[in-house]
Amino acid sequence: MSKYILPASVFGTVFGCAVLLKSKVTGGPCPSKATIKGKTVVITGANTGIGKETARELAKRGGRIIMGCRDMEKCEAAAKEIRGKTLNPHVYACHLDLASMKSIHQFAERVKQDEQRVDILINNAGVMRCPAWKTEDGFDMQFGVNHLGHFLLTNLLLDKLKDSAPSRVINLASLAHIVGKIDFDDLNWEKKKFDTKQAYCQSKLANVLFTRELAKRLEGTGVTVNAVHPGVVATELGRHTGLHQSQFSSSVLSPFFSLLVKGPELGSQPSVYLAVAEELEGVTGRYYDVMTEKEPAPQALDEEAARMLWEVSSRLVGLEEERGQTGKMNTPAEGQSKAAQANPAQTSPAPAVRGVVA
Ligand SMILES: NC(=O)c1ccc[n+]([C@@H]2O[C@H](COP(=O)([O-])OP(=O)(O)OC[C@H]3O[C@@H](n4cnc5c(N)ncnc54)[C@H](OP(=O)(O)O)[C@@H]3O)[C@@H](O)[C@H]2O)c1
Repeated sequence: MSKYILPASVFGTVFGCAVLLKSKVTGGPCPSKATIKGKTVVITGANTGIGKETARELAKRGGRIIMGCRDMEKCEAAAKEIRGKTLNPHVYACHLDLASMKSIHQFAERVKQDEQRVDILINNAGVMRCPAWKTEDGFDMQFGVNHLGHFLLTNLLLDKLKDSAPSRVINLASLAHIVGKIDFDDLNWEKKKFDTKQAYCQSKLANVLFTRELAKRLEGTGVTVNAVHPGVVATELGRHTGLHQSQFSSSVLSPFFSLLVKGPELGSQPSVYLAVAEELEGVTGRYYDVMTEKEPAPQALDEEAARMLWEVSSRLVGLEEERGQTGKMNTPAEGQSKAAQANPAQTSPAPAVRGVVA
């Protein structure tokens, strides 16, 4: 029996220290105490995880919060909870399904009509390692939601952001971008065997490339854009992975994992920091690992890839046709998925978009 005492106490001490040091090691709270009274924040995927805690913290700091979520029941419940906890009545639930271009257009129209300004846009929603699902428009789910959906939404809200300048866009990327590769020949996994892990990494690399290209195109407008890896955070993001699906891992491993990694409250601090910190005024096109600026992976610094991704994304979401409005036929965009081409009704262009940056 005694031979187990030493290893058990070493394990207990290491584990205890890891839990206690968790906050420090994982970045800690946002150092800025800035308040944002009078500012409007749009945040996607805000009904749970990092997004919900970001919404709560920014509501606490006095912002007007528009939560864009696909499940209105969860969204209303989260908005109500945040209003109750922060005593900020200006927290609103609004329908947004990033897997549907129609829904993104409707959400953006509503924001443009109802809101006088948009000071902060947080592209937070994400899906990780789901099966080979497609969006309503036929895009790979992870590329469609994580990149294309936010690409379209951001472009649709650009005029509001410019009119509200200085304003900020924050893109939730991930350290996973370092093993990402953009396959321009097959962005939607129609030719090669589907690899859900790679699909996530591709979409997160796209988030960083989008950030850099958008920053370039927004030079001089007063709108800044930065990408952030929030750290490893215990949220529902792993819902499609083995960790959440087996009984053993969800009841035994998962609680253990939650003790070691930070919770959504700490996980939201990097987004809050990028949204409010005074010292970040004018800082743009950067990548943050938690709250420290870092150089992203070499493939995320490839300017030609960033430009190409922008052009392909514009075509896929139909912004090119909208911008052109030359009277030419709206042919299915080059590279668009077969599913989308087969159903032109789903991809028909929405009204002209003033905010698109070419
Ligand atoms: N957690 C981490 O360790 C970690 C690490 C690196 C990066 N990130 C990034 O951080 C962001 C937030 O993730 P999280 O950890 O908070 O995950 P989460 O708890 O799973 O929350 C993701 C949110 O995105 C929403 N969402 C998913 N698909 C959507 C769609 N089609 N339309 C609108 N909303 C949709 C979800 O809504 P439902 O509840 O309705 O599904 C949920 O509100 C993601 O972009 C993720 O890639 C997280």
